[in-house]
Amino acid sequence: MPHPDVMDKLVSLCKRRGFIFQSSEIYGGTGSVWDYGPLGVELKKNVKDRWWHAMVRSRDDIEGLDAAILMNPRVWEASGHVSGFTDPLVDCKACKARFRADKLEDARCPRKPSRRPGEHTDCQLTEPRQFNLMFKTFMGPVEESAAVVYLRPETAQGIYVNFLNVQQATRQKVPFGIAQIGKAFRNEITPGNFIFRTREFEQMEMQFFVDPNGDHMQWFEFWKAQRMAWHASLGLQHDRLLFHQHSPEELAHYARAAFDIQFDFGGGLGFQEIEGVHHRGDFDLGRHQEYSGKKLEYFDQPNNRRFVPFVIETSVGADRTTLALLANGYREEAVPGEDEGRVVLGLHPSLAPIKAGIFPLVKKDGMPEFAAKLAGELRPHFPVFYDESGAIGRRYRRQDEVGTPFCLTIDGETMLNGTVTVRDRDSLRQERIAADAVRDYVSARVGNG
Ligand code: GAP
Repeated sequence: MPHPDVMDKLVSLCKRRGFIFQSSEIYGGTGSVWDYGPLGVELKKNVKDRWWHAMVRSRDDIEGLDAAILMNPRVWEASGHVSGFTDPLVDCKACKARFRADKLEDARCPRKPSRRPGEHTDCQLTEPRQFNLMFKTFMGPVEESAAVVYLRPETAQGIYVNFLNVQQATRQKVPFGIAQIGKAFRNEITPGNFIFRTREFEQMEMQFFVDPNGDHMQWFEFWKAQRMAWHASLGLQHDRLLFHQHSPEELAHYARAAFDIQFDFGGGLGFQEIEGVHHRGDFDLGRHQEYSGKKLEYFDQPNNRRFVPFVIETSVGADRTTLALLANGYREEAVPGEDEGRVVLGLHPSLAPIKAGIFPLVKKDGMPEFAAKLAGELRPHFPVFYDESGAIGRRYRRQDEVGTPFCLTIDGETMLNGTVTVRDRDSLRQERIAADAVRDYVSARVGNG
């Protein structure tokens, strides 16, 4: 069950423990832009590593790519973003707030939050106008319209324009895919809910190129299943994940079929999209062929025919997945035999930013030296945290709160026989193992799941 106030709890925990900070906080912040602190950067990196491992490293039919953020502006004309990547916007002349015209039902009047925009007597809403979500900037020293370039609003287009480069360089045969992880930017009108909808975010996208005369719907079903299984493998609870099929009204004009994978974030947000799996037909390659004047056909040598492949896309947000994992893992619980409860971040061990906390029971009798030496030996293999300050219970709780799966305690018995206790974050069970077996013990349990 999601915690009812989970978002407020997470914002506070993430700041306090160094996962996520508001961008430019000392200047009052930047709207819906966030910085990842020491633990957050590790968590998000682990999410990206899990994706890269599943989508690129463990498959022989997907190649990796890292395309530039800045692209020729014609790319965005061809993709339809210049003319169509818009939201209808209304302004309130009275309070200067902006709302999405198609989401007024869900919005609140800033002056009277119990009312919707337009329901308060002072509200003066303008007519809706289309607002393009792409950020613009200028290439070169002159700020003129000919020099306009865009910050990419999705990473996918970098893959389409490199389709033949990658195919020819790798000699992959259709069906095959190209995957990349990278930043995307959208000037969202109504961002919010912490890192759920932000103006700068990271996407993990894969475009799978298939034969239009072949089994493309089977590939679509294959990728739907694969992607759902991946989210479950991260530890997201099964009953908090579902597919949402796009209705004909929701379906983008180029899409033949589309499903969102939704996660139940709880805390007022409920089920929301974390990933889209889209059957895009030949729209993208067809448009780039038309706008660039360059053929983007695949040559099927055995059958001596050329075709523009269909594309099955999987597109997931790294930040949104990170938020889902935080919301999924957050729990408050009583500790048997203790007055104080604990907060636990039940992250899958492969995702936890710190794999083991290392504590000397007391600051004497050689325990700190033993523990520091052990920490030094383990650090090259996985992230560890050495802590000798405060009561041992408090040190355990500090690690529970950031999701550390194991805590190793060096005590009097260690000094006699070289064994340490290993405490499991979730079961609270403790066992004694030889200090020189700790590396294998932890490594075996923090793998890719
Ligand atoms: N290339 C297809 C595409 O970009 P999308 O549904 O617009 O599709 C895919 O975005 C994923 O990117 C979403 O499911 C979400 O996880 C993430 N995403 C999109 N906009 C976002 C935003 N403003 N903030 C954070 N994540 C976002």
